[in-house]
Amino acid sequence: MLFVFTRSLLRINEGEHNKVIGLSRRVLRDLWSSLLLYLSIMSTLMARSVIDRTADKLELFAKIKDLAKSKNAVILTHIYQRLEVQRVADYVGDSLMLSKQAQETDADIIVFCGVHFMAETAKLLSPNKKVLLPDIQSGCPMADMINVDDLRAFKAEHPGAPVVCYVNSSAAVKAESDICCTSTNAVEIVKSLDSQEVIFVPDKGLGAWVQYKLPEKKIHIYDGFCPTHWQITAAEVDKQRIINPEAIIIAHPECDPEVWRRADFVGSTSEIYKFVEQSAGRKFVILSEQGLVARIQADFREKDISTVFPLPLCPNMKYHSLENLYNALDQEFTEIIIPEPLLAPAKATIDKMIEISNKKKIWTGPQVA
Ligand code: 13P
Ligand code: SF4
Repeated sequence: MLFVFTRSLLRINEGEHNKVIGLSRRVLRDLWSSLLLYLSIMSTLMARSVIDRTADKLELFAKIKDLAKSKNAVILTHIYQRLEVQRVADYVGDSLMLSKQAQETDADIIVFCGVHFMAETAKLLSPNKKVLLPDIQSGCPMADMINVDDLRAFKAEHPGAPVVCYVNSSAAVKAESDICCTSTNAVEIVKSLDSQEVIFVPDKGLGAWVQYKLPEKKIHIYDGFCPTHWQITAAEVDKQRIINPEAIIIAHPECDPEVWRRADFVGSTSEIYKFVEQSAGRKFVILSEQGLVARIQADFREKDISTVFPLPLCPNMKYHSLENLYNALDQEFTEIIIPEPLLAPAKATIDKMIEISNKKKIWTGPQVA
C-alpha cells in the first residue's frame, strides 16, 4: 500500500521504484554506520581521559615522586581524577578525607589535584602551607552557581535559619555560612543543628536528599546543581533496570532526585566505594562521576561495574595531568591565596564540620602505591 503510494507520488514504474527503495536503504545503512562510527570515536576520546596511563609514564611518575620528596610536598588527589594522577598521589579520597589530610600533614607544600574549592579548603585548614592547584581552570560549575550576594538574598528570604553550605562552594560563601558539610556528612550536620528550619546551599540534589532523610526539618534549598550528575536521567535508570536486571544500581545524592529515588543505594563518593567493596553483589551500575567508576573498576576487577552513556564525566576534574602536576610542583604554581578577611570565618565553618565528623571514623581512601 505504502509502495503504491510512494510510486504514484514519484510518478515512476515498479522497476524504477525498486531502485529508489534500494538506494534509500543503502543511504540509511551508510547513515547508521556513520552514526555508530561517530559514537565509537566519541566514546574512545572520552575514555582516553580516564584510561590509566601510568605504565607509559613511569619515568615522569618517578620524577614527580623524587621532586615531591625533595620539596617535602604531599600530593592529595580526589578520586574523580585521571587514574595516573591518582596513582602518583600520597593520598586519594573524597573531599572530607582530603580535608583531614590537609589539616594533619606536616609537608611544606600541598599539591591538590582536585577542583578549586577543594584546594581552597586545604589552604583554609593549612594556612601556613603553600597550596598548589596544577591547573587553575579546574573549577566547579556548581560552586560557581552561588556568590555572596546570592546567598545574602536567599538568607533574607528565610531570616533566622542557619546556613549549611556544601563544601562545593567558594571561601567567600563559606565565610557567609554557619557550617559546612560534604555529601558524606550532610545529613549528620543538618541533624545536629538546633533549628527546625535550615538553609542549604548550593546543591539542590543533595539538599533534597537531606530533606528526604530528615522529614522533621524544613530545608530551604538553593537552586544549584552538578551538571555532571544531572546529565544522568531517570529514563536511563529505567532502561538500566531492563537491560541490567540483576545489577545493583547506586546513585550519588548530587543526582536529580528522580534518579536517586530509583536507585537501590544512595551514597556519597566514599560510601559508594565502600558499598561496592563490602557488598556480596557481583554486578553494579554506578550513577556518579567516571573517575570514581574507573577507580572502582580497577580496584575490584572481579566485579562487573558499569555506568551509563554518555559517560558522567566532570571535565573540570580532568584538567590535571602528570605533566602539569610535575610543572606545578617544579615551578610552584598556581598558588591558592585566600583574602585575609575570609580566612577565619571560612575556616570556622569547616572546623565545625570536622569537629562533628571526627566523632565518626573517616574513610581512609583506597590503597595508594
Ligand atoms: P565528595 O565530597 O564526595 O568528594 O564529592 C565532591 C564532588 O565534587 C562530587 O561531585
Ligand atoms: Fe563540581 Fe559536579 Fe564536577 Fe563535582 S562532579 S566538581 S560537583 S561539577
